[in-house]
Amino acid sequence: MKFTRCAALATSLSKSTSLRQQLLRRLLPPLCLLFSLSGINSYYQAFKTANEAYDHWLADSVNSLSQLLSWHEGRASFIFPNGAQRMFEWDDTDKTYFHVAGSQSGNLAGDPISRPASVIVNQLGKVQLFDATFKTEVIRVAVLNVSAPQGGESVEIIVAETQHKRNDLARKILLDSLFPLIVLILVAICVVWFELSRALTPIHTVARSLENQTHLSLDRIDDTVLPSEVHPLTHALNDLLDRLRTALLTQRRFIADAAHQLRTPLTGLKLNVDDALRETTWAGAEPIMRQAQISADQLVRLTNQLLFLARAEPDTTRTRFKPVDLIALVFETGAQWVPRSLEKGVDLGFEAPEGLGLIIQSDDVMLKEAIANLIDNALRYAGAGARVTLEVRRFDAQTAVVSVEDNGPGIPEHERHAVLQRFYRGEGTQSHQLTGTHGSGLGLSIVKEVVQTHGGQLQIDTGRDGAGAKISMLLPLLTINPSL
Ligand SMILES: Nc1ncnc2c1ncn2[C@@H]1O[C@H](COP(=O)(O)OP(=O)(O)OP(=O)(O)O)[C@@H](O)[C@H]1O
Ligand SMILES: [Mg+2]
Repeated sequence: MKFTRCAALATSLSKSTSLRQQLLRRLLPPLCLLFSLSGINSYYQAFKTANEAYDHWLADSVNSLSQLLSWHEGRASFIFPNGAQRMFEWDDTDKTYFHVAGSQSGNLAGDPISRPASVIVNQLGKVQLFDATFKTEVIRVAVLNVSAPQGGESVEIIVAETQHKRNDLARKILLDSLFPLIVLILVAICVVWFELSRALTPIHTVARSLENQTHLSLDRIDDTVLPSEVHPLTHALNDLLDRLRTALLTQRRFIADAAHQLRTPLTGLKLNVDDALRETTWAGAEPIMRQAQISADQLVRLTNQLLFLARAEPDTTRTRFKPVDLIALVFETGAQWVPRSLEKGVDLGFEAPEGLGLIIQSDDVMLKEAIANLIDNALRYAGAGARVTLEVRRFDAQTAVVSVEDNGPGIPEHERHAVLQRFYRGEGTQSHQLTGTHGSGLGLSIVKEVVQTHGGQLQIDTGRDGAGAKISMLLPLLTINPSL
């Protein structure tokens, strides 16, 4: 992983909050909204209930006062029995006022209170109820209009009281109804908190088991104890662990093979040097030194191949890609091999369609190395007097093909998969004609790696006329020259 990505991951981790906190943060606003709505509703209901209870008392009082009216020739008189006024004075909390007035007789009893001009807030029988302000206090006013039985004046009876008792009752009802709601919300939060902690316990267990793993164990996570919601994560982690285990195993095997391969030419080199040191004349030492030179060459080539493979990680190489003229690149690489093919007595040819420009997105150094490995194989295994042809052409609208063909012994079909493995050398290399073709079995693995990095395909076929080997790299084209 790149350091920039690690930094981004670290930042995002430091920003992340716990699941409990996230859940609470999401649950709290709707719970508070529910609490507020329920509070408003309870407050409204509490007031309604309190008003209803006390409005009935006011209406009863007004009706009682109306019973004290008497009529004489259409005019009203009001006789308030001694002590009856105390029924309006018993209350310590609220002040009660009353007023009885006839349309013709005027004030009959009580303090003058005029009928409020506000809207009716309640109606109980013939009694109308209003809210009003009297002597700077908010009061509830009950009004009853009574008319003389056989015509005459009408009498207005008003009883009013301040609203302290109503407010106290409403507040009490409100608190009584909100308390269980507060308890319910607190219990819900506690249940969520503890249940979540319980549900997360297996995750901690898995985390501990992961912490105890080393790069040598990398065992799969047992997710049977985990909630099914976490399974996609554990499956992905298990896949990653599998891939890591395979990659580590491959890497370990590669290092062991590489060490083994390096040991052979190194041992040869050491023996040569020891032998050469024992010689007393240059004539005696020279053939041994020539052998040492071959071993050193092998070592240099092997080391370069190993370094190349180590560097050919798809992630890092693609950043070096740029548009490359494929025909020019293959021609240039082939030209570098002409002296070697002349030396070996091999006829090296190049074929490409005239005037065709094939552009691919590529790392030219890597691609040249792959082509060089194919030419090297063809020269080595086809041997002296052979014919080797380098060809570049368009395969289809999106693909170009680079092939190296020879008329040598070819690669038997049953070996075509195996020769792509690292350190695999073909059975034919042991044969009499091919002794002296030193190699480590890395050339075709390098070609395969390069082709894969380019998003292409590698094909091994028999050459023309059913003889020799034809190895083709199919590479995705960037553009095709319109002059085609
Ligand atoms: N053109 C060819 N004709 C016949 N056999 C071939 C050809 N190219 C490859 N092979 C076979 O495939 C095997 C693997 O080739 P590869 O290039 O990977 O390794 P190598 O040539 O043995 O060693 P080096 O690492 O030096 O290239 C060879 O040992 C050889 O048997
Ligand atoms: Mg090779």
